[in-house]
Amino acid sequence: MKLGVNIDHVATLRQARGTRYPDTLEAARHCANAGAVSITVHLREDRRHIQDADVYRLKNACPLPINLEMANAEEIIRIALDVKPPEICLVPEKRAELTTEGGLNVIGNFQSLEQTIKRLQDNGSVVSLFIEPDEKIIAASAKTGARVIELHTGSFCDATDPDKAERLLKKLIHGAECAQALGLQVNAGHGINLDNISGILRIPHLDTLNIGHSIIARAVFRGLENAVHEMLAAMNPNGTADFCR
Ligand code: PXP
Repeated sequence: MKLGVNIDHVATLRQARGTRYPDTLEAARHCANAGAVSITVHLREDRRHIQDADVYRLKNACPLPINLEMANAEEIIRIALDVKPPEICLVPEKRAELTTEGGLNVIGNFQSLEQTIKRLQDNGSVVSLFIEPDEKIIAASAKTGARVIELHTGSFCDATDPDKAERLLKKLIHGAECAQALGLQVNAGHGINLDNISGILRIPHLDTLNIGHSIIARAVFRGLENAVHEMLAAMNPNGTADFCR
C-alpha cells in the first residue's frame, strides 16, 4: 500500500513564527527519500498553513507528484488551473474548523462539483473526492466524472469506544467495496496514526493512504524520514521496509 504524506503542518510550524523555516520543499524531499509516493498540501482559503508560493515551488521542484487538497472555490480553482498539479483532492472547507470535518456533500453540490471536476481534469489533473463511506455518496461521486475517491477515516480513527470503532470500520470496508465495484480508485485518509493503522489495513482495495498530522508530530522526536519509514513499515507489515534507517 502506498503512502502520501500531507506536509501542511510543516507550514503550520513556519507560519506560527513567520519564519522561512521549516521549508516545505525540504520536508517533501525527506518524505521522498523515505519512500512516500506523493506529497499532499491543502491550500486553504484562509491560508493558515500552506501558502500559494509553497504550491508553485513544490510543483516545480518536488521530486514527488503533488496532490493539491482544495475547496470547490473559484479563487482556488484558478490557482489549481495555473499550477496543474498531477492530483487534486476536493474537500469541504469551513473557516473555523481545526481540520477537514466530514466529507463532501456530493449529492447537494452535484452540478457544481461536476463542472469543477471537468475543468480540472481537462487541464490534466486527476481529481479525487474526499467523502464519507456512504453508498449513495459513493454512487454520486462516480457519476461526477471523478476517477478517485478518498474515504474519510476520521470518525473511525477518533473513536474510543471499540464497538463504535468496529461499526465505523465496517462502513469503511463496505464503502471501499462499493467504490471498487464502480471502478473508482480508493484512497483513504484523516486521523491515521500508528495506533489505528492495523484497523485501516482491514479496508480492502486501498491504493494510497494520505497521512499528515501523526507523521509530522512523530517527526519531532524521530526525524521526518524515520517517521515516514515507521508508518510505511506499519502499513506493510509483511513487507521489507526497514523500520528505521
Ligand atoms: N486527507 C484529507 C482529504 C485531509 O483533509 C487530511 C487533513 O488535511 C488528511 C488526509 C490528512 O489527515 P491527518 O493530518 O489527520 O493525517
